[in-house]
Amino acid sequence: MDKIVSLAKRRGFIFPGSDIYGGLANTWDYGPFGVELKNNLKSAWWKSCVHERSDIYGMDASILMHPKVWEASGHIENFFDLKSDCKSCKKRFKAAELSDHKKCPECGGELTEERPFNLMFKTHQGPIEDGSSQIYLRPETAQGMFVNFSNIMDSRHPKLPFGLAQIGKAFRNEITPGNFTFRTREFEQMEIEYFVRPQDADKVLQEWIDYRFNWYLNLGIKKESLRKRKHPKEELAHYAAACTDLEYKFPFGWNELEGIANRTDFDLRQHAQASGKDLRFFDDASKERFYPYIIEPSGGVDRSVLAFLADAYHEEKVKKDTRVVLKLHKDLSPVKVAVLPLLRNRPEIVELAKKIAAGLKKHLICVYDDTGAIGKLYRRQDEIGTMYCVTVDVQSLEDKQVTVRDRDTMLQERISIDRLEEYLKNKLA
Ligand code: GAP
Repeated sequence: MDKIVSLAKRRGFIFPGSDIYGGLANTWDYGPFGVELKNNLKSAWWKSCVHERSDIYGMDASILMHPKVWEASGHIENFFDLKSDCKSCKKRFKAAELSDHKKCPECGGELTEERPFNLMFKTHQGPIEDGSSQIYLRPETAQGMFVNFSNIMDSRHPKLPFGLAQIGKAFRNEITPGNFTFRTREFEQMEIEYFVRPQDADKVLQEWIDYRFNWYLNLGIKKESLRKRKHPKEELAHYAAACTDLEYKFPFGWNELEGIANRTDFDLRQHAQASGKDLRFFDDASKERFYPYIIEPSGGVDRSVLAFLADAYHEEKVKKDTRVVLKLHKDLSPVKVAVLPLLRNRPEIVELAKKIAAGLKKHLICVYDDTGAIGKLYRRQDEIGTMYCVTVDVQSLEDKQVTVRDRDTMLQERISIDRLEEYLKNKLA
């Protein structure tokens, strides 16, 4: 983990939040390559879960929602962890993580009784901070889709089964955040709410578990580092009848990457009752009205980024040196091509390299770098996970060819500048 955290900071993927003020605990800022990786990951999810399917509609709902949403959803009543405070050092612990429920694991002091602690962040809407203005930052994006169920029905007239998908921020006042970006209080989710006939729920749940499992594998996660884990009954959330987690073998152990749950008709029924709106599905053929069941694949963007970073991190012996390389899938790599002049004190070479980079930038994510000797530049690009390095040398001025180096094999090929764009596009297709 230390190596990943250090590379993430050194190379501009992820920085500690509010760094110049000594940081705000467990907040992280995505830097230039981190935001590209994160955007690529979200695009890959959107492509697979929205664009490539004809049964899913995209959405982007507000973070701030009517407070009644959280009463109806059960979050005000049920969304809490049991916590215990140390009477001496004042540290707070999640009861489930304590081995001795009486003694502080840090200083040995006496612990208070376990008390429920609601995980929702509270805030106020408008200038007057009284009870009536209190609202919450959403702890899951899901509710934004449930409350729009009838808007989608009226505007898109879908047939069952169909789904809604969205990516967005969620907030939880976690008692024990940690492990870098794995558990934070502000994070991003990628969620699908898939509406099905109740009798199809078990079958569709299994289909989604497989679909999402394969998505991670297709983007390069090693098979031996990914597993499915079915929740025992006592572990299920208040709304779920069944849930299977996809777990990744993080450097700190197997942990949840995504949960795929059968939420039954719990949410639609609750919102129908609380809002007074009819949220049943009307089946044209049978003229029946009923509440569909909901299958929910719910993944974390930040957790996925961390898993893909950990999975891609390689150290290889190259002669006497160790090469650190991020072997990210081509669709996820933050940079596809780097253009590097072999000699930065030769203006004709620099000029040609800059011209090539400017041309490629119109089609691919491409960087130009002339801030070091070629060995150092290659090492830097390997650590970012750049797929191809294009080197412009003295000979390029004569034969109008450049050297293209493959990140994984390190093999080099001479390619004519005329053909370069097409060559790279084919490789990256
Ligand atoms: N709507 C269902 C739901 O929110 P969840 O299992 O609580 O289910 C889904 O969260 C996913 O969101 C998790 O699998 C994880 O990837 C991500 N997630 C949850 N809490 C998180 C946190 N504190 N920090 C980072 N990611 C988190």
